[in-house]
Order: sequence, then structure tokens, then C-alpha cells
Amino acid sequence: MSTVVAIINQKGGTGKTTTAINLSAGLAYQGYRTLVVDLDPQGHTTIGLGVEPDSFQECMAEVLSVPRKRIAEVIVATYIPGLYLAPSHIRLARAAEQCYTRVFREMILAQSLEGLEFDFVLIDCPPSLGVLTTNSLFSCSFIIIPCQISRYSLDGLADLLTTVETVKNLSPEELFEQDLFRILLTTYDRRNRVTNEYILEQLKPYRDKTFATFIMKNEALNQAQIAQKAIFDYDPRSSGAHDYRQLTTEFLEICQRKNNLPGKRPSWQSFL
Ligand SMILES: Nc1ncnc2c1ncn2[C@@H]1O[C@H](COP(=O)(O)OP(=O)(O)OP(=O)(O)O)[C@@H](O)[C@H]1O
Ligand SMILES: [Mg+2]
Repeated sequence: MSTVVAIINQKGGTGKTTTAINLSAGLAYQGYRTLVVDLDPQGHTTIGLGVEPDSFQECMAEVLSVPRKRIAEVIVATYIPGLYLAPSHIRLARAAEQCYTRVFREMILAQSLEGLEFDFVLIDCPPSLGVLTTNSLFSCSFIIIPCQISRYSLDGLADLLTTVETVKNLSPEELFEQDLFRILLTTYDRRNRVTNEYILEQLKPYRDKTFATFIMKNEALNQAQIAQKAIFDYDPRSSGAHDYRQLTTEFLEICQRKNNLPGKRPSWQSFL
């Protein structure tokens, strides 16, 4: 059974796609067979992994539509060995709208992932708490919430966690007892002392639920998206590559503690 991870935040531009691309690449380079599901009609993960919208016929839009395609029918290989993609296209926006009239609409993705043989499935969600994000929440056993370091970045976190409690049928206490989610701080800049202190103070109640790895602000991560490559291939010596390598390790340690770690395979040289 795959470990399914939803990468969510209803705020835009918090680093969801950057994390989906680079954590999934990190896992694949560690030898884990990994699928990244692009559940955002913007299709940024698809493009970011070098898969052009005119290179595939069917995508997640058809998986969420009636008649329904099986997810296995839309998966494509990426340029990274062991990393596969269920691509997205702008027409996923229409498919999501049509879901609203269907029964069990929040379960469509979970059903379509059944029986897939991957070690990890990472889902990149759009910046909303709509039907696509709730589908990812129903499917997942772990949640990553990327947050930028800025004054308003933590507004909405309470709403988001309430949605998680509802979907997972947990009380607020149970949500904290279970090892179900981690906040990931992205675009951290040591020079912005006042902002950093403010955010870390706000995050005190969530300290145990925040990754020890912070993703520093790093222009190479921006450039890697333009080059349509994971950071490990674009600039393996950058701080972005260092941070996402460390995040991969920390994430795998969490999976190990949760007894969710599949058997390790030989790692790829370029990751080292
Ligand atoms: N650590 C970082 N340092 C510098 N730039 C970054 C970093 N992380 C992300 N970015 C850039 O910030 C922008 C937004 O990042 P990203 O697309 O990952 O956010 P998102 O949460 O997926 O956005 P959306 O909500 O629109 O889907 C991108 O241009 C990306 O290259
Ligand atoms: Mg995105």
C-alpha cells in the first residue's frame, strides 16, 4: 500500500508545488517508487517536471470526470527514474465543478488510488479548500502544509485544520495526538529577524507539528521551475537542494516512526 501525502494550503504561493516537485524527486532519488498527482488545474507540477500539456491526451481531469478514467491510464514517466506523474490540465477546473453534483464526490480520488503500487504518492493541491483539496484529504495518511514566513501566512491555518478534523473525523485533541500533519516553513531568510521571531512565536503551539527543516529563500528554486527540473538536477549545490535533501530525510524518519516506511532500494548517485 502506498503512503499518500497531501500537500495543502488554501493560500496561494506558499511553496506547495515547489515541495511536491522536490520532495517527490528526493524520494525517487532515494530509490522509492513515487507518484506525484498534480491536482491543481494550473498544472505547475506537470510543467515543472518537464511534462508539456500537449504531450498527453488524458489527465486528472478525466480521472475526476464521468465516464471515469483509471488513474493508471493517465500516469506518465518523468525524466527522473522512479518518479511518475498523474498530470493536470486547465480542464481539471471544469471537472472539479462538475463533481459538486455527484454523490461521494470527496471519495473519487481515494477510490482511483486503490491498488496502485507506489511507495509514495504525493498530491499537489490547488490554493483552495474546495472539492479537489477535500479529495486529497480523504485519500491521504499524512499532510504537509507549506507556509511562507510573512505576517498573514498563518491566517487560515485554523480553518484548514478544522477541515482536516472534519474529513478525518477527529477532535482537535485527537488531531494533535496523531502524527498526521507537519507545517513546513518555506522562503525563510535569516536576515528578516523581526518577521522570523514573530512567526516562530505564532507557531509555538505547533512546534511539534512543524518540520525541523526550514526551506530557505533561494533563487535557484525559482530558476529550477523555469528550467523544468528538480533542484537536485538544476543546482545540486544550492541551499534549496540542501534543504529539500534534508526535508526528504526528515520526512522518511517520520514515516519510519509511523512504521510506514517501505523497504529501501539503492539510492541514485546524483542525489548524494
Ligand atoms: N524557498 C524558495 N525560495 C525562493 N522562491 C521560492 C521558494 N519556494 C517557492 N518559491 C517560488 O515562489 C513561487 C510560488 O511557489 P509555488 O508555486 O511552489 O507555490 P504554490 O503554493 O504551489 O502556489 P499556488 O498556490 O499558486 O499553487 C514560485 O515562483 C516558486 O519558484
Ligand atoms: Mg502550486
